[in-house]
Amino acid sequence: MKHYKVGIIGATGMVGQRFITLLADHPWFEITELAASGRSAGRTYAEAVAGRWVMTTPLPEKVAGIIVKEAEQDAEKIAANVDFVFCAVNMDKAAIKALEERFARLECPVISNNSAQRWVDDVPMVVPELNPEHLAVIEHQKARLGTKRGFVAVKSNCSIQNYVPALHPFIKDFGLKNIAVCTYQAISGAGKTFDRWPEMVDNVIPYIGGEEEKSEQEPLKIWGSVKDGVIVKAEKPLITAQCIRVPVTDGHMSAVFVNFDKKPDMQYMIDTWNNFEGLAQKLQLPSAPKKFLNYFTEDDRPQTKSERELEHGMAVSIGRLRPDTLFDYKFITLSHNTLRGAAGGGVLLAELLCAQGYMDR
Ligand SMILES: NC(=O)c1ccc[n+]([C@@H]2O[C@H](COP(=O)([O-])OP(=O)(O)OC[C@H]3O[C@@H](n4cnc5c(N)ncnc54)[C@H](OP(=O)(O)O)[C@@H]3O)[C@@H](O)[C@H]2O)c1
Repeated sequence: MKHYKVGIIGATGMVGQRFITLLADHPWFEITELAASGRSAGRTYAEAVAGRWVMTTPLPEKVAGIIVKEAEQDAEKIAANVDFVFCAVNMDKAAIKALEERFARLECPVISNNSAQRWVDDVPMVVPELNPEHLAVIEHQKARLGTKRGFVAVKSNCSIQNYVPALHPFIKDFGLKNIAVCTYQAISGAGKTFDRWPEMVDNVIPYIGGEEEKSEQEPLKIWGSVKDGVIVKAEKPLITAQCIRVPVTDGHMSAVFVNFDKKPDMQYMIDTWNNFEGLAQKLQLPSAPKKFLNYFTEDDRPQTKSERELEHGMAVSIGRLRPDTLFDYKFITLSHNTLRGAAGGGVLLAELLCAQGYMDR
């Protein structure tokens, strides 16, 4: 496999720090550029994150001395020194869209964790195990942007990264009619720790701005199809979501209720989960979990603390499948929100794009 130089835009934030830990020893990718806002620019990375490094592993030495650039002002310099960038920034949506398109027009592909472009119909929103065929719309996007190799590919919201994979294997043969989901989301999903968000200690907040709409709508793009170079979203299932912030550091859990068009057998569902393999596994991408979907038979699993790190935080854990009074079945799903749900999912998507030639020069 080739070697790629990469940049991280938003390198000082919660997701940016995750990218740093995942990429420091990556077999294909080498970090050559780090960027953030004017607040961090001009300082070494170690200085810029002093007092706010929130990862449990130490700051990798090889990035400590890199001088942080200002994402907007230094875009040309950054683009000239990398093969592509990861982007996870906290800015308003219009500014994020402009920034990402600027890098794409500088012929620098962007793997985005932001929501600003998730609904652009020629911007693929891909979970490598589920809908890799959506990458085909990149050609349409390049024609729109007038680029040869620059494009934007996005990751979906962290809240949907456990229940959508668990439901996905049944769409073709059984059809999904309607789904109710309640998500229990960790505070790192808001870029926070307990130190920085004391209100969350011993507390539950029944509101996460914009999250319920994303949780109901984004699965329909992932389950959509490519027509005339763009993604047309699926018309069903109908999804209703409630998203709740809970006092855990990392790991989003979902309580899922589902009605199928044709009801599968419970044991069939469990076997399907345990045997599921996507393109990421077939290609043996470096960050792909060996087993993506894992069913736990114990009544009290999966639990956030014991299962969120499964397969380096890239696997989905499922449990408590049982019949329901209103729906066909109910069950629990869990995934790590800043690994599978953010930076890890972004790295896996970049690996897929490299393996399929989209990052070639
Ligand atoms: N946390 C999660 O689990 C998660 C999951 C999925 C998606 N996301 C998305 O990922 C993005 C980042 O989230 P986060 O939790 O990492 O946020 P965060 O911890 O608040 O970090 C925000 C980053 O954006 C940078 N930034 C702010 N204003 C900027 C500007 N004008 N120009 C360039 N950089 C700027 C910050 O740089 P400074 O340090 O210099 O201010 C920092 O690096 C958001 O779009 C979020 O929705 C987060």
